[in-house]
Amino acid sequence: MLYPLARHFLFKLNPEQAHDLSIKYLPRLLGTPLDCFFRHSLPKRPVTCMGLNFANPVGLAAGLDKDGECIDAFGAMGFGFIEVGTVTPKPQSGNDKPRLFRVIPAEGIINRMGFNNKGVDHLVARVREAKYQGVIGINIGKNKDTPIEQGKDDYLICMDKVYDHAGYIAVNISSPNTPGLRQLQYGEALDELLAALKVRQQELAAKYKKYVPLAVKIAPDLSVDEINQVAESLIKNGIDGVIATNTTLERDMIYDLPHAGEAGGLSGRPLQHKSTEVIRQLAKALDGALPIIGVGGIDSAMAAREKLAAGATLVQIYSGFIYKGPALVKEIVTHI
Ligand SMILES: Cc1cc2nc3c(=O)[nH]c(=O)nc-3n(C[C@H](O)[C@H](O)[C@H](O)COP(=O)(O)O)c2cc1C
Repeated sequence: MLYPLARHFLFKLNPEQAHDLSIKYLPRLLGTPLDCFFRHSLPKRPVTCMGLNFANPVGLAAGLDKDGECIDAFGAMGFGFIEVGTVTPKPQSGNDKPRLFRVIPAEGIINRMGFNNKGVDHLVARVREAKYQGVIGINIGKNKDTPIEQGKDDYLICMDKVYDHAGYIAVNISSPNTPGLRQLQYGEALDELLAALKVRQQELAAKYKKYVPLAVKIAPDLSVDEINQVAESLIKNGIDGVIATNTTLERDMIYDLPHAGEAGGLSGRPLQHKSTEVIRQLAKALDGALPIIGVGGIDSAMAAREKLAAGATLVQIYSGFIYKGPALVKEIVTHI
């Protein structure tokens, strides 16, 4: 279709310029004759997950629309759900540029964005304006200047603010680009955080008279033992879902390619197998206690089916979408 042409132009820009330009202009195209470039009407593939109804199991992963500027435009592409964020209590600019790199021969991306976002209040305003009828997940994190010991407070601040506006809340403890954040995935720190979030969820459920599920997003760089421990903690604390996975710190799969030495998280096709194996192990450990949202290197309907076969109920895409465009949503939804 026309995406190869748009990609040709966008890939001539540096990756962050291409991203910013797309986020700025996509909403402006919506409702004009030009939205035929990306508007899809797709077959219904209804799925129920975490007590929510999804028109289809294909979602946009967190980080592409961090500030919720493009929800309706992504909705027009046919996504069954859209996860916005990661958002933090206060706005922050993220790491120094350049911080986003394409690894084109492998269809990978390396990023060390560092939760650049306009803050939770801005995001909530955008979500409230959106007309999209699908499920909107809101992904929350902590500010860089909040000490990790007080990280829990940032998640609670965000939770309070997004609760009434989110289909589900994703708790990001797996970004490699906020120092110390991944420590929250282990042992007592994880248990303590999840217990506090669960208590707050119950309070907010009573206040708003609705139950908004909590999903925890984990890294692919966990050992089998660590995955088993995470699973145990998720079950013990009554968490509603788990998103697997975030980006990886591993570089083996691209060691000889341009940008392989850049710090940050690697996503896209090089991550595909690794994230599927995490999902498989997680599914074994969870034994159906809670659903898995599978993400990592999905670049085709077949790759999406592999995630489902490994134990995921829903899937999300990011890097594959950058390389393949809106046609990938259609391909997966049609052939899943
Ligand atoms: C540029 C970029 C920014 C990202 N930002 C976030 C983020 O803010 N929060 C988050 O939970 N995941 C973030 N991710 C991770 C993606 O949501 C996804 O988990 C990961 O990229 C694996 O999926 P993929 O291989 O389809 O890209 C980001 C990924 C990329 C490439």
